[in-house]
Amino acid sequence: MRRRLAAGNWKMHGGGAELAQVTALLAAQPTPECQMLICPPATLVARMADLAKGGALMVGGQDCHPAAKGAHTGDIAASMLADAGATHVILGHSERRADHGESDALVHEKTRAAWDAGLVAIVCVGETLAEREAGRTLDIVGGQMAGSIPDAATGANLVVAYEPVWAIGTGLTPTTEQIGEVHAHMRGLLEARFGADAGQSVRLLYGGSVKPTNAEEIFAVGDVDGALVGGASLKADDFGPIVAALSASGG
Ligand code: PGA
Repeated sequence: MRRRLAAGNWKMHGGGAELAQVTALLAAQPTPECQMLICPPATLVARMADLAKGGALMVGGQDCHPAAKGAHTGDIAASMLADAGATHVILGHSERRADHGESDALVHEKTRAAWDAGLVAIVCVGETLAEREAGRTLDIVGGQMAGSIPDAATGANLVVAYEPVWAIGTGLTPTTEQIGEVHAHMRGLLEARFGADAGQSVRLLYGGSVKPTNAEEIFAVGDVDGALVGGASLKADDFGPIVAALSASGG
């Protein structure tokens, strides 16, 4: 059975003052089958990891460089995130694909770098509104998965997040049928490529305007093992109920 994962992506939000949210989240106490992760800006990873030590909250990065080290001003290596206390890293988020022109091939390299550093990679895929309207959603998501995920994927080192670009930060969400269709397709692709065992053990997250008010119905969709949450992860009052809904959803 796959452990569920509620992952928060703070994006470029938050400083020392926002670390108070962690204390509140640590009281959330998810069931053992449900994990809780926050990926804050890189400047907060070490401090958040210190605060979370010994508790149920895990801490992750939002990106890493494909190289282990070197002359890359402003970049962060996966091993540096691990050294700061991170256990996970988000890779290939659509904002990075758009803002920084990240290709599937680059995300593939970054995923390998994350694995070399012992991090779990949360690889993001998802279609734009134009692609959905053109009926290309499954092809786009499948192509991104094929290009971004290296061969050595397992349930222990990989999480895949389906995040329709048009649902991120917009308040729009796909129907539960649409989410179910994409997640079932993703599960089938993972099984075909990595075999039934590994394909069944990789967690699939839905992301895009997840809130306390829609979490329960999204978590009831087959092959949705959790969520990648942006805006609603910034406040424990919003993220806590999402974690609770995931814990209660049972799997
Ligand atoms: P959102 O962002 O929850 O604010 O829509 C999700 C994400 O980009 O991971």
